[in-house]
Amino acid sequence: MPPPLIERYREHLTLEDGDPVVSLNEGSTPLVPAPRISDRVGAEVFLKLEGVNPTGSFKDRGMTVAVSRAKGAGAEAVICASTGNTAASAAAYAARAGMRGAVIVPEGKIAVGKLAQALMHGARVIALQGNFDEAFEIVRELANRHPIELVNSVNPYRIDGQRTAAFEVCDELPEPPEALAIPVGNAGNITAYWAGFQVYGASPVLYGFQAAGAAPLVEGHPIENPETIASAIRIGNPARWEEAMNAVTASRGRIAAVTDDQILDAYRFLASQEGVFCEPASAASVAGLFEHGLPVADGAEPPKTIVCVLTGHGLKDPDTALGKAPQVIGCEADVGVVERAVFG
Ligand code: F0G
Repeated sequence: MPPPLIERYREHLTLEDGDPVVSLNEGSTPLVPAPRISDRVGAEVFLKLEGVNPTGSFKDRGMTVAVSRAKGAGAEAVICASTGNTAASAAAYAARAGMRGAVIVPEGKIAVGKLAQALMHGARVIALQGNFDEAFEIVRELANRHPIELVNSVNPYRIDGQRTAAFEVCDELPEPPEALAIPVGNAGNITAYWAGFQVYGASPVLYGFQAAGAAPLVEGHPIENPETIASAIRIGNPARWEEAMNAVTASRGRIAAVTDDQILDAYRFLASQEGVFCEPASAASVAGLFEHGLPVADGAEPPKTIVCVLTGHGLKDPDTALGKAPQVIGCEADVGVVERAVFG
């Protein structure tokens, strides 16, 4: 079994000597070829399956580092605002560290699996009558007022840890990929990938994709009431706005929007054609390639190898899956009736 991220990439991480390693053996996630997507896009596409992390999303990479540092610094509790995955991850790592956790989520707007996780791990779950951006402002204020560690991606250790996904991609492929396609919400992950690639001297073209109803970076201004079926990226005012845009510009890449229908088409395509079940927000990375192709700066060649980051597992959000999947076929317990149902 590969070692925890903190052991695997310790030389690149900024933990203090004596910090405990709070780990669930996160990272070292599969990078799988996607032949059918490759055919459609006209380049060699790989999927980075971040849903395989212990709590089912990429957040565990940053959380292992942030919670280890917080514990090392003597904190007793962590807090975050979240569209769901950060909450699940913070709750799990807090439990692992023997710390208390509090998570503020937008009421009725997080996928049911994520809610179940945060509750089971023993975090105090507060459902805010408001959106993620409002929740985020509130937790920033609370973290100023109380000795509680803020573990949103404004925490530098979160970004530090999330860079390891880029390290893994570079370590695994014979050459670093020529492009990276990634969903963008609070803009921490795209910032982290770019920082990680820089450590390896790699500069893939970054294609960042936002949901059309929650696309502040595309529109160039905050969105007051963001809306999308991809609840994980329903964010109107990303915390890492500037860093993300700087990374995209430096990579000669693009930020673009995809509609909910395009996201859902890619979501079904991934599950039914590639055998990979991710959550809707994750499918934005593939939807973006399908919709926008492979734009490059003047004079540049289109990328020949692309890594799509599938940020979270499909099981996180069974409601969306069941709402969009074919119907179950009900059947009485009779061989003839079942035969007709199976072969008919
Ligand atoms: N994909 C998934 C599944 C996510 O949960 C998130 C963010 C993103 C993509 C976007 O990443 O914010 O770094 O640009 N989820 C956060 C949360 C906001 O609270 O779980 P980002």
